[in-house]
Amino acid sequence: EDTGKGGYDHYMLKEIHEQPHAIRQCLSGRVDELHGRVELEELDGLSTPKRVQFIACGTSYHAGLYAAHLFREMGVPAQTFIASEYATSPPPVGEDELVVAITQSGETADTLSALREAKARGAETLALTNVVGSSVTRECDHTMYIRAGPEIGVAASKTFTSQLVAVNLLVEAMNGNDAGVLTGLRDLAGDLQSVLDRVNVRSAAAQLAAADRCFFVGRGLNHPVALEGALKFKEITYVHAEGFPAGELKHGSLALVTEDTPVVAVLTGDDEETRKTIGNIKEVESRDAPVIAVTDGRVEVASFVDECIQIPETHPHVAPLLANVVLQLIAYRSANLLGRSIDKPRNLAKSVTVE
Ligand code: G6P
Repeated sequence: EDTGKGGYDHYMLKEIHEQPHAIRQCLSGRVDELHGRVELEELDGLSTPKRVQFIACGTSYHAGLYAAHLFREMGVPAQTFIASEYATSPPPVGEDELVVAITQSGETADTLSALREAKARGAETLALTNVVGSSVTRECDHTMYIRAGPEIGVAASKTFTSQLVAVNLLVEAMNGNDAGVLTGLRDLAGDLQSVLDRVNVRSAAAQLAAADRCFFVGRGLNHPVALEGALKFKEITYVHAEGFPAGELKHGSLALVTEDTPVVAVLTGDDEETRKTIGNIKEVESRDAPVIAVTDGRVEVASFVDECIQIPETHPHVAPLLANVVLQLIAYRSANLLGRSIDKPRNLAKSVTVE
């Protein structure tokens, strides 16, 4: 049945394994394979904006950071705001500015409140959500559904992946359809399945579960993945985890790095970025921190780290989605080793309807 655990120990593990299906659902009917283009019927009448602001909370905020990066890459100025801060101190909204509310549930009070501030300033608005008919869809000018299916686990997994797929579709629809990205998206469900089938995270999970704290680092598109990896880890293990842009660790938090601080580094895509992140890895290794790398193997990384977890090579926009699944599995296995309440972590709620 749809909402049962389907033989898995936890809803979260089931939902992690549902991701190939969720991806196919998100892509279904939206990519014209014959002509190599994305067609988003629901967004007829929405043209490429001059500027974009993303507003979101928690995991959805990380999807917003990823999204802003892709928009900036296509030459559209884009910023991402934590919704509660946006509502407290709304930035100016310019002419032809699109404000995108990213919210899995469509009911997060902070996000709705930020959205109302944006509307009051005259913004055109787009909801990116999973829940049909949710509050955010009623308040926005446009809606794009991520079509992940119901998510029961409090810690988001498949909805984050589906948000990133939806963002890619949005960018390709507005940016002229890059054949490499479309191929990466077409292959994504299969590539993700091979990560689920082949990647072994047991030793990484055991090492992190035994630590008092751990760090996650990534550069560029892997920065939001590192933040999400740390959030997932702390949500369900209750172990202190922090995510950083790889280049930022040295500006303060390196003081916390010791042989008891495992560092998970995400290195995919752009070779130049990967080389810089390897430099950052050397900085933590020289403080005796164990380093676990998640990489697509485009640049030789294994010889610089203690453990290397390999994901399939794909388009640089898409690879972070595969790396993120490895981090989901690490968080899940670590929390399981610690005997935590994985589907309902203490103090947390799936949807937060107070500000
Ligand atoms: C809660 C959940 C998080 C989620 C956040 C935003 O805090 O525990 O997992 O990321 O809300 O939820 P939304 O539904 O707006 O994406």
